[in-house]
Amino acid sequence: MTETTGFGTRCIHAGEAPDPTTGAHGVPLYQNVTFAFETYGQVAGMRSGERPHFTYSPRGNPTVRCLEVKLADLEGAESAIALNSGMAAISTALLSLASDGGHIIASDQLYDLSHALLANELPAFGASATFVDLTDPVAVERAIRPNTRAIYAEPFSNPLLRVTDPRPLAEIARSHELLLVMDNTFLSPALFRPLEHGADLVIHSATKYLSGHGQVQGGVIAGPRRLIEPMRARALHLGNAISPFAAWLLLAGTHTLPLRMERHSETALHLARMLERHPAVAAVHYPGLASHAGHEIAAELVGGSEGRFGGMLAFSLRDGEAAVPAVIDALELCTIAVSLGDCSTLAWPWHTGGLIRMSIGLEDYADLERDLLGALGRLSPAAAAD
Ligand SMILES: Cc1ncc(COP(=O)(O)O)c(C=O)c1O
Repeated sequence: MTETTGFGTRCIHAGEAPDPTTGAHGVPLYQNVTFAFETYGQVAGMRSGERPHFTYSPRGNPTVRCLEVKLADLEGAESAIALNSGMAAISTALLSLASDGGHIIASDQLYDLSHALLANELPAFGASATFVDLTDPVAVERAIRPNTRAIYAEPFSNPLLRVTDPRPLAEIARSHELLLVMDNTFLSPALFRPLEHGADLVIHSATKYLSGHGQVQGGVIAGPRRLIEPMRARALHLGNAISPFAAWLLLAGTHTLPLRMERHSETALHLARMLERHPAVAAVHYPGLASHAGHEIAAELVGGSEGRFGGMLAFSLRDGEAAVPAVIDALELCTIAVSLGDCSTLAWPWHTGGLIRMSIGLEDYADLERDLLGALGRLSPAAAAD
């Protein structure tokens, strides 16, 4: 791939070439645990580093290696590690950065298990975390301690889609010799590449948009080699290696990533506008809406002229929390389910705030609109004909 190769082309070709021994087009699935050596000399060459050779799949596997090269390319990083879940990626990264008595400043709106890891698990490893609103630079500066190592953010938060601008955080990080780490799961590199905006490390739950089909669990850390390579060793010690089969499915997922993100985004924007006009809806949280507090920053960072803001949105109802069960139970096409980034639209009643979080899928817009209007019509029959 050259500097000018387009993102869509890189999604398909980066890290991939026909198999040199068989000519197989498409990365083969190397679903084996160990690798054979022909001679003692080969073993010695591998040990000295003169003749690289795969040894044991968790330490390196050709299918996984292709995925890692592709993911590094897509995030504009020197290197990447693919791991067995998003939480494996997050725990590997944060433990590597802070388990020697370090401190992390993290967003006060995070994926719940990331929050739990920081709040409940890090102290057992001698590390600590402070949770602040990362959109407030003064609060971030105030939270810095002598042992602070990193700022940990999600560009669009879960479930309110609060937009965090990495640029001021990167400036603070630079001036205090901290690292900026961003979990880019909600957007994927097709829409946003945090390293281009000053982040030092980018993390994904590959389980979501990178896979795109709800079939795989995986995680990624990408960044400069000097940070990634020690994390590769850490991940191995923690038993976080990804399976070759998961990596192989993820390679297939990445091929269609830009097309899917385009469609997720287009449909989500139309649905968000429809919901915003609906009399039964109190508020819609979608950064693509001009009414969203983070719209301008999101448009600069993510949306661009094409107006692509991802497939995640949340909304609340005028009739409040009590009305949520009626709407959820009336959905016929949307699946009641957690997670995100699937081809199917997933609707989830959030445990607080009377919110319904939606991961907008790839179905036809008209069908999703009909399903949502039908469900909301249970609350306000006149509105269903809107
Ligand atoms: C933003 C975000 N980060 C990380 C994770 C964790 O990923 P995984 O379930 O692959 O461990 C999730 C899971 O929902 C998520 O939404």
